[in-house]
Amino acid sequence: MCGIVGYLGLKDAREIIINGLKRLEYRGYDSAGIALKDCDSNHFSVFKDKGRVAHLESITDYTFQSCLGIGHTRWATHGEPNQVNSHPHNSAKGRFFVVHNGVIDNYKELKSTKLKETVFESDTDTEVIAHLIERYSYKMSVSEAIRKTMSLLEGSYALAIIDTEDPNHLYACKNKSPLLLGINDDGIIIASDVMACVGYSTQYVPLEDKTFVEIDGASYTIKDIIGKEVPHEIKTIDIDYFNIEKGEYSHFMLKEINEQPAVIRTIINEYFDGDKVILNGKTSEAIAMSDRLYIIAAGTSMNAGFIGRELFEKMANIPCEVHIASEFAYNMPLLSKKPLFIFISQSGETADLRAGLVNIKAKGYRSLTITNVKTSTLAREADNFVEIHAGPEIAVASTKAYTAQIVILAILAYGLSDKHIDLRKELSKVAISIENIIDKKDYIEQLVKEYLTKRNCFYIGRGIDYYSCLEASLKLKEISYIQTEGFAAGELKHGTIALIEKDTPVIAIISQRSINKNTRSNLNEVKSRGAKTLIISTRSIHESDDQIVIDDVFELFSPLLTVIPAQFIAYYAALERGYDIDKPRNLAKSVTVE
Ligand code: AGP
Ligand code: GLU
Repeated sequence: MCGIVGYLGLKDAREIIINGLKRLEYRGYDSAGIALKDCDSNHFSVFKDKGRVAHLESITDYTFQSCLGIGHTRWATHGEPNQVNSHPHNSAKGRFFVVHNGVIDNYKELKSTKLKETVFESDTDTEVIAHLIERYSYKMSVSEAIRKTMSLLEGSYALAIIDTEDPNHLYACKNKSPLLLGINDDGIIIASDVMACVGYSTQYVPLEDKTFVEIDGASYTIKDIIGKEVPHEIKTIDIDYFNIEKGEYSHFMLKEINEQPAVIRTIINEYFDGDKVILNGKTSEAIAMSDRLYIIAAGTSMNAGFIGRELFEKMANIPCEVHIASEFAYNMPLLSKKPLFIFISQSGETADLRAGLVNIKAKGYRSLTITNVKTSTLAREADNFVEIHAGPEIAVASTKAYTAQIVILAILAYGLSDKHIDLRKELSKVAISIENIIDKKDYIEQLVKEYLTKRNCFYIGRGIDYYSCLEASLKLKEISYIQTEGFAAGELKHGTIALIEKDTPVIAIISQRSINKNTRSNLNEVKSRGAKTLIISTRSIHESDDQIVIDDVFELFSPLLTVIPAQFIAYYAALERGYDIDKPRNLAKSVTVE
């Protein structure tokens, strides 16, 4: 959600910032802006507007050289997306430019107590920051003024700040929202995500909450809020440039769906030695020691969590609960005596999860993060973390991270299971079966044209298939904007069946023998009321007119297969409607506000 890229150094700031913002586009945004200093004069130019980074690029002046600048993609929280509300924001006398990611909870109070006389240009909460820094800069150094401002801000912020009176410095600070430094001999980048630094920096420094950074040419100092230098770790950027490009694919989502067999094989390579699972001992121990697991997640990661619950309870006999992160953070359930909290997050930056993690850490409980981004906040702050090795996921709609999360959950559950399966072999079979479904994608595209003709749609299933339906429906609604619900097949008749009318698409997922007949009865109920039904089933229980038949695998792993046609259904439904598949409206990849 939103992106910040700033640069001070010897290279072309405009190129680094615009390319960086493009790399951060996947996070979701509605406006973009940049402030640049002309190398040959003391002049600063600002270009900003509602719309895409490509539009920002087209309105940016390319006639001057620049070695200092800050850029931003905004995901509006306060004030509609328009030119005035776009960042950078300028202080009252024009001395400071500020870009901000996050939400300032007490901005109204700060306006009425500290900035009574100030005239505000925008509707954003951000603008108070620029004015406060300027106000304090009359009485103290710029570093002190920024730290003083930080001490007044409540909420979340990642900030990059330019002082137009001192173009040899660039400033940044953060609390709750992600921010890091990309470092190189010839300059320093400030960015929300390491992706913006790939190709420009070889190393980076993740920043902790309530830290302040002063960049001076190629050197930097990191301080806490009272100005004491804090130690920091320099890490290597190991993202391959080619992994963040679309290559031959028309969309990142299509590329990422296709990458799923390879991701499963990578996970096998990472976590198996022969047919033995190799996991960090502390992780297995933490799970084994707990009397109940609490999975905390949001969206697709939560849907993976539901499958995880089935795996932990059915394979390992460990009770497990799944909680919506935003609910859990402020309304904790009654806990067991020895709980272990498992945070599942592709990005590792989701603010709703972070709020929960902070709470449980304060109570002294143990935590484990399962994430795709080993450098993320949730990976750093939990007691342990397990990387899912899906490779960068750029499309907002999560696909390969979902399957990778389930594979990791299966590996964790298997470690404590008394079930004797050859896990490595079973997962390899899954990878091959996914390839078989990928081979049928053109056929699925035809089915989409035939069946998904209405504004609404239902996915129905029972047991583990119901959880797959939740993910299948989330995927379809988020990119095709078709109003879709995932429903427990037997529950439909208790009210929702009233919505079924002629040709309403109802897609059933049937992968479990034990519920096959029941789900088919529920399908008959909707069919008799006019629904157009489409069935995804497994070979051993399929019927001759089921449209999509997938291979049989170990039953609890069937969600890894049933989701693949659902991902294609979502993709082709969105393609058919001409929507922006990788960047659907209103959504962000990394949801860094609560
Ligand atoms: C997935 O398609 C969604 N875009 C969204 O639900 C996502 O899964 C959710 O925001 C959680 O993100 P995370 O996994 O990065 O924490
Ligand atoms: N709250 C700020 C705004 O609405 C920043 C939003 C963002 O993170 O992009 O402008």
